[in-house]
Amino acid sequence: MQLAEFGATPAGGVNRPALSEVDRRARRQFVQWCEALGCVVRADAIGNLFARFAGEDDHAPAVMMGSHLDSQPTGGKFDGAYGVMAGLEVLRTLHANGVRPPCPLELVVWTNEEGSRFAPSMMGSLVYTSQLPLETALSTQDIDGISVAAELRNGAGCDAQASVERPAAYFEAHIEQGPVLEAERKTIGAVTGAQGQCWFQLKLHGRAAHAGTTPMAMRADALVAASAIVIALDRIGREHPPGCATSGRLVVNPNSPNVVPESVFMTAELRHPDDAARGRMEASFRQAVNEVSNERGVRIEVDKVLEQPAAPFSPVCIRIVHESAAARGYPNRAIISGAAHDAVAMSRIVPTGMIFVPCAGGVSHNEKESATPEDLAAGCQVLCDSVLSHGRGVN
Ligand code: GLV
Ligand code: MN
Ligand code: MN
Repeated sequence: MQLAEFGATPAGGVNRPALSEVDRRARRQFVQWCEALGCVVRADAIGNLFARFAGEDDHAPAVMMGSHLDSQPTGGKFDGAYGVMAGLEVLRTLHANGVRPPCPLELVVWTNEEGSRFAPSMMGSLVYTSQLPLETALSTQDIDGISVAAELRNGAGCDAQASVERPAAYFEAHIEQGPVLEAERKTIGAVTGAQGQCWFQLKLHGRAAHAGTTPMAMRADALVAASAIVIALDRIGREHPPGCATSGRLVVNPNSPNVVPESVFMTAELRHPDDAARGRMEASFRQAVNEVSNERGVRIEVDKVLEQPAAPFSPVCIRIVHESAAARGYPNRAIISGAAHDAVAMSRIVPTGMIFVPCAGGVSHNEKESATPEDLAAGCQVLCDSVLSHGRGVN
């Protein structure tokens, strides 16, 4: 709740854009909390923060845990922040009880998981796992032309710089962001993996014209073309269950009531657990874009800014999460993640597991996001047991 004060909105949510001033303040608070436990905190070149908690064998590879602190513009208190705070709670519990974990623990705050200010999502973890070039990430600009590099020059919240070596395993706690656990009265979801997704940015080039004097047949209206693409995306999503297709952002230029829109910037994203089905969705999407372009006389540029195949998680980590939940008597089930997470990026290079807890009504990316203290505490417990189990070499 203290963290949720950074960027708090009147409606009870959080607006904490990646690398904004409010995000930097949240990061500094995180660093202070970790340093109070004796952790050494470092930032890497993309601003990911790593807090190291010493282990009995401090030369052993670390077990890493964490999530992100940036939010959607009308985000909730829990998406991302919970996973970071759950990791902090693990470290506080070990510290308060004088327990040294078998291996070092690294608690990480990934930079810009949401991708809502700077595309793509999972930026920090994709750079860390060498799936996105650092230079590409640094030069990415937000809608006002401010780059990631420029924001990082204002400070990532921590002065010490380091490149942190790959851990033995990665665990991330997160609210489910969907309705399944709550509906089935399960406290813990042992995440088996995440569905694949791809993101596109489109630029539609029409022709500005007077709204009163330009006959309908003589227009090249970029917004009408964008609207047809939005409708096509909705159809494509419905035709490929359980796939999802969304356009979440449109920027219309010049955005004046009596000017036929000259250009539109828009986003599109496609998700499906089956990569082949997602491929068919992409083919339909590209066909729709071509048809709209021809019909409307609007030139359309399509830029794919993210492609992540479905990500199966490590059977060892999934089992550890299940067993940790069962040992504490928490009702649990296997579950697939519809959302993207930094764990998806990490799963490509190290054994990875995720722990889901229920959230009210399955609501997320919404200021009303909510979860019970009991479920959140259970997730912390399972995270703690899981990182210690992995560190002890239960695999
Ligand atoms: C992350 O928030 C996502 O878009 O799944
Ligand atoms: Mn998240
Ligand atoms: Mn999110």
